[in-house]
Amino acid sequence: MMQEKTFGNLVNGEWRISRENPPLEVLSPVDGSLVGKLSSMSHTELDEAISAAKAAQKAWAAYPVYRKAQLMYRAADLLEQMAEEISECLVMEIAKDKNSAVSEVKRSADLLRYTADVGKSLHGEAIFGDSFPGGSRDKMSCVTRVPVGTVLAISPFNYPVNLAISKIGPALMGGNTVLLKPATQGAVSALMMVKAMQDAGLPAGVLNTATGLGSVIGDYIVTHKDIQFINFTGSTEVGQHISALTSMTPVIMELGGKDAAIVLEDADLDFAADNIVDGAFSYSGQRCTAVKRILALDTIADELVEKLKARVERLKTGDPREPGVTVTPLVSTKSADFVEGLMRGAIQQGARLVTGGQRTGNLIQPTLLDRVTTEMDVAWVEPFGPVLPIIRVASAGEAVEIANRSEYGLQSSVFTNNLNKAYSIAAQLEVGTVQINNKPERGPDNFPFLGVKSSGMGTQGVRYSIESMTRPKAVTINLTGDE
Ligand code: NAP
Ligand code: G3H
Repeated sequence: MMQEKTFGNLVNGEWRISRENPPLEVLSPVDGSLVGKLSSMSHTELDEAISAAKAAQKAWAAYPVYRKAQLMYRAADLLEQMAEEISECLVMEIAKDKNSAVSEVKRSADLLRYTADVGKSLHGEAIFGDSFPGGSRDKMSCVTRVPVGTVLAISPFNYPVNLAISKIGPALMGGNTVLLKPATQGAVSALMMVKAMQDAGLPAGVLNTATGLGSVIGDYIVTHKDIQFINFTGSTEVGQHISALTSMTPVIMELGGKDAAIVLEDADLDFAADNIVDGAFSYSGQRCTAVKRILALDTIADELVEKLKARVERLKTGDPREPGVTVTPLVSTKSADFVEGLMRGAIQQGARLVTGGQRTGNLIQPTLLDRVTTEMDVAWVEPFGPVLPIIRVASAGEAVEIANRSEYGLQSSVFTNNLNKAYSIAAQLEVGTVQINNKPERGPDNFPFLGVKSSGMGTQGVRYSIESMTRPKAVTINLTGDE
């Protein structure tokens, strides 16, 4: 797998370094050191990886489910044993704080085990024709679920292990083979996870990887004739690009978000402030489900802002290797420039800087902006950084209207002690999930996870992911005899 920090790709059970192209360097956003060199695969090499996946698929689909599950359990154990090694890599490769890095690996092991459990218990059904008018009991449809074939899993930088494994595990349990295209920043950690899957004993060709810049190899793989399903997590921009290129290939897309936390007048403000700060600033706001705007009732806004300010100022910022750090350098200078631009633009247009606002290198201090208006970009754009705008509203109705005016529809939170009101607001919000008295979050991983509008299409979550990457197959038995 590794020669002097050069990582190959897993193709047909072997680690192969590109024969054709010079390697890509992955540098650490923490200190600029070399994390590793990746192969930039050529079209011929990508064809080899996809052919390997295609060739292995039928035998893998026929592999007994309980044995697939055994491999998942073994891979989960190996992954857990590698938690320290992989989390150290995550810290340097994507500047994730150590605690979050360790929990990402452990959560991935749990997800694999749960996927194996669910995969073992998914069964088909038998339907008799006589439940439909004119039908007959002599007609029976035997419905099972069959794999879609070869799945292309494309993962983002912010959860290199977890958002790869949450595609790979369910795809494999459903009898598919996989080509993983990890984010370039994050690929070294992802390949370490793949090594654990391989060491667990996956047959050759069942799981393959493809590294290379998305802008260089992306179009080729997403339009490849032997890719039968695309499971993509990343930005809305790239998701829309893939969607435009692929017409008859089924997809799941988990894209960007602008999750709102709506805080009503009867909320427990200390509880809301704790949750919102955690939700907005963990891993420096680089989570699709981060709280990305607050819609606060005028009547409680002053008090809420003071409580938020006190908590934000207690956050530890800096080097992700330091214990207890929450806000770390952003993944790239491009990201830090973007976030700084949004912040500065809002201040120029009259937003009040409550706290934060400074930048050192790619580290942006956690920033609260009050009195943000709907004319400002920061009210609508996903920063993917530690900047939290507060929009004051006159009523719950106005909060819902502004929440729904967003192009995104991933999650929303409603903080209130009135469950009836919360439920009524939840019913009006155009998002995949509403969290009542909690920050937005994807887990627990057995729950459905989905975005609507520009936040995506299709549903993840262990059982939902398996179902999405399999399809029903009906065999209709028609009894003809007189016996
Ligand atoms: P990104 O830039 O869209 O990249 C995502 C993946 O797509 C990477 O593997 C990237 O490869 C690849 N890619 C780039 N261009 C491609 C192309 N033309 N064809 C195929 N693949 C291509 O996103 P990111 O910066 O890694 O992640 C941050 C974004 O993801 C945010 O918008 C965030 O909200 C969203 N996200 C959403 C969810 C969710 O579940 N809703 C979860 C996590 C993140 P390279 O790295 O080589 O460019
Ligand atoms: O970045 C997007 C992830 O799907 C968010 O997952 O809510 O567990 O941090 P999380």
